Amino acid sequence: MTRRVAILISGGGSNMEALVNSMTGSHPARPVLVVSNDPLAGGLAKARKLGVGSFVVDHRAYGSDRIGFEMELNRVLQTAKADLVCLAGFMRILTPAFTQRWAGRMLNIHPSLLPKYRGLHTHKRAIEAGDAEHGCTVHEVTADLDDGPILGQARLPILPGDTPDTLAKRLLPLEHELYPAVLRRYAADDRTPVLLGGSDLTS
Ligand code: GRF
Repeated sequence: MTRRVAILISGGGSNMEALVNSMTGSHPARPVLVVSNDPLAGGLAKARKLGVGSFVVDHRAYGSDRIGFEMELNRVLQTAKADLVCLAGFMRILTPAFTQRWAGRMLNIHPSLLPKYRGLHTHKRAIEAGDAEHGCTVHEVTADLDDGPILGQARLPILPGDTPDTLAKRLLPLEHELYPAVLRRYAADDRTPVLLGGSDLTS
């Protein structure tokens, strides 16, 4: 059975683009919808170009009514008959009620080697800690922020002179490799972790 994938974004949507482009041929899933919480997200135009339906659920319209926002988000996902949800640079914290509803069907990519550096400013925190390595993680979404079973990680060395920007730039292509690789396995009910890169990875 082909899995129907919805992708939630807030920004540029480069991970969304990588996911959409990967779902072709024998891939066990297909993209059905891109949802943004921000009407100005650059990823919306990308989704249109890719021929994937897009929808905005503007969180600002709901003020502090998190439940109302999530009810609408859920309605949109149900209407699209999404089987799986990929958070791809989606910058809203979801309530336990929502994560519970999608438990085992929702993935996230986070730009750190979890469990290190949950939350924001991960590149800066890794450099300031003097870490030799940095990376990204794809995990199942649970009620706790940037937590949940790890499905894959990609690593890269932190080089002398790296800034949060240079590190983020070198990491992004690895995110684009890791997330599609994990989704392909996940959609085929394979939970074997995907491990990319390592100390031998210098480029
Ligand atoms: C990525 O670095 C992702 O890991 C983080 O936000 C960034 C989103 O980039 N959570 P994009 O919108 O996929 O281009």
